[in-house]
Amino acid sequence: MPHATPHAAALAEIAAIVGPRGLLTGPEDTAAYVEDWRRLYRGATLGVARPANTADLAAVMRVCHAAGVAVVPQGGNTSMVGGATPSADGQQLIISLSRMQAIRAVDPVDLTLTLEAGATLRAAQDAAAAAGCLLPLSISSEGTAQIGGVLATNAGGNNTVRYGNARDLVLGLEVVLADGQIWNGLRRLRKDNTGYCLRQLFVGAEGTLGIITAAVLKLAPRPREVAVAFCAVASPEAALALFARFQAQDPAAVQAFEYMSGLGTDFVLRHIPGAVLPLAASAAHYVLVELATPRMNAGLRDSLEAVLEAALESGEVLDAAIAESEAQRAAIWRLREEHSEGQKREGASVKNDISVPVSRVPELIRLATAACEALMPGIRAVPFGHMGDGNIHFNLEQPVGMDPAAFLAQDHAIMDTVNAVVRTLDGSFSAEHGVGQLKPYMMPEWRGGAELALMQAIKHALDPAGLLNPGKVLPTAS
Ligand code: MLT
Ligand code: ZN
Repeated sequence: MPHATPHAAALAEIAAIVGPRGLLTGPEDTAAYVEDWRRLYRGATLGVARPANTADLAAVMRVCHAAGVAVVPQGGNTSMVGGATPSADGQQLIISLSRMQAIRAVDPVDLTLTLEAGATLRAAQDAAAAAGCLLPLSISSEGTAQIGGVLATNAGGNNTVRYGNARDLVLGLEVVLADGQIWNGLRRLRKDNTGYCLRQLFVGAEGTLGIITAAVLKLAPRPREVAVAFCAVASPEAALALFARFQAQDPAAVQAFEYMSGLGTDFVLRHIPGAVLPLAASAAHYVLVELATPRMNAGLRDSLEAVLEAALESGEVLDAAIAESEAQRAAIWRLREEHSEGQKREGASVKNDISVPVSRVPELIRLATAACEALMPGIRAVPFGHMGDGNIHFNLEQPVGMDPAAFLAQDHAIMDTVNAVVRTLDGSFSAEHGVGQLKPYMMPEWRGGAELALMQAIKHALDPAGLLNPGKVLPTAS
């Protein structure tokens, strides 16, 4: 019997592969998959395929390849740039990795974790901790974000200052390619000079070159001492000076160094139940510093106090609270981790995930704030983030009382204003969130010429029919 639409036959084949639990097509079943968590993008889909294992995913991809069905890989759907949301035409198939979530092995001697793409980052952290190790990757969405997406977007987060980005933790990968072939590169070797480093092609490619199904990650030794402080600082320059003090004292101990503006912290205090400022008075700038070491009897708490005392004396630090318990440590981290949610509840905001050399962060904060205020009177700059690695989330909150839709309609003008400053400071227009469907239009200006041509050649070599996550990362040919 002939099928009603061109993709109906392919969908029937896919249903036979993944079984009744594995394919969602009803609008109420697919609703959560077609919209991003920021509610910036709403797409439509042929359906959501949820394969139970790599072989089934490969079979699904063989069907899609033969029928010309485009696919959108999706993990925890926490993209900040619409990287996992399908187009509005309803002709793309979402591939959800959420049923492939096994933690396959943790090896405390090799310091490796082997796991499937659908495991959440938190489940991966917990598995490492249960074996006495640390998975040194921490992001605000870690309870929901899945390893496949974390690697496909080369997530960064709070510990990049010490351990690098997701990319730096990947020893091996398994990937399903556009035509359904499986590349099994799940090696757990520290040295392996055998040609091109294919795994790094897929990390950060945002699902445009292949679908990551499993990985081997590097672990670190578990910290034996951890010390956390929340500090009010005099200025962004003072925050940088404080960072330099910690680096000079013991660079190997700085596990996180996060900047927060007074305004962004006020949003958290205002909108997040239970959030409390651990200081007597509010300030215009704050820093969260976390020191950690696997060494025994390292005297980390004393080192933290010594640095803070010197910085208090010099006037860089205005006041500081040191966590005395795990509960206090969690409460301090909450002030930082709830920044995105606080901004969301305050109103509409435009995100700018950007990076500059660490030494230029204070200039970035001052110049970009002034440029945005000149562009739109009343706009509220809310810079915060990973100062220790130069990645600031230079987010802009709508002026009080402005229509949110009218504000969001200005997103390109706002992003371009911030990016003009970023350019003068030798930075990047995307630090850790990726390009997704929000920023491909920036690629020709920032990565044009040989760099973009190389990316397009790689895309063509791995996905000549353009079936993998179309419309993401690379600008579409005009
Ligand atoms: C974070 O570090 O909390 C997120 O990456 C930032 C954001 O919401 O812009
Ligand atoms: Zn971040």
